[in-house]
Amino acid sequence: MNEASLIDKIGRILKDERFKHTLSVYKEALRLAKHYHCDTKKASIAAILHDICRDYSVEELNSYVKMYNLDNIYINNKALSHAKVASLIVQEEFNITDTEIINAISFHTTGKENMSLLEKIIYLSDIIEERRTFEGIEALRKLAYKDLDSACLLALDNAIKYVIEKKEYLHIDTLLARNYLLINKKGGKDEHKNKCYQGCKANR
Ligand SMILES: [Fe+2]
Ligand SMILES: [Fe+2]
Repeated sequence: MNEASLIDKIGRILKDERFKHTLSVYKEALRLAKHYHCDTKKASIAAILHDICRDYSVEELNSYVKMYNLDNIYINNKALSHAKVASLIVQEEFNITDTEIINAISFHTTGKENMSLLEKIIYLSDIIEERRTFEGIEALRKLAYKDLDSACLLALDNAIKYVIEKKEYLHIDTLLARNYLLINKKGGKDEHKNKCYQGCKANR
């Protein structure tokens, strides 16, 4: 199925606001993919399909969580379950077989340890697409085109703070994604270890 017919199909499935969001994510993902020389076709498909289950009711998502034997943490948690369920639905209903696309959809809300370029692009596009408004978004948008890893790290930090503030469930993958990027940032593990060591000494 080409992108135009996929968009057409999605337009008939999603609610109006969700469809507009999806089109904006698609636009952003394409721009980022071109900027970072990622496969634009894969970025487009992952972006178009990433939220296909976001408008499902919690009951509907719960029944998929049970049917697919997903972890109980996804029960009554639409924010997390819609991504996992979508990654399975796209295989069954859209014949998506590409693991990179499937993973980009599956981890678009949490991130994960050692994210691929495509996963980072979809994760960020969902957050910085043109319709989003929150404090600091312009800086994050700029950073996304300057340093993708730093932008992901900032977005993950924001997500962790938000989840804690709202007293919601913090998925382990978000924590692992954040720590992986932190340790592998410029300077790598040694610099980070050195900082930790200095911090420990200073706290004595
Ligand atoms: Fe989503
Ligand atoms: Fe989304």
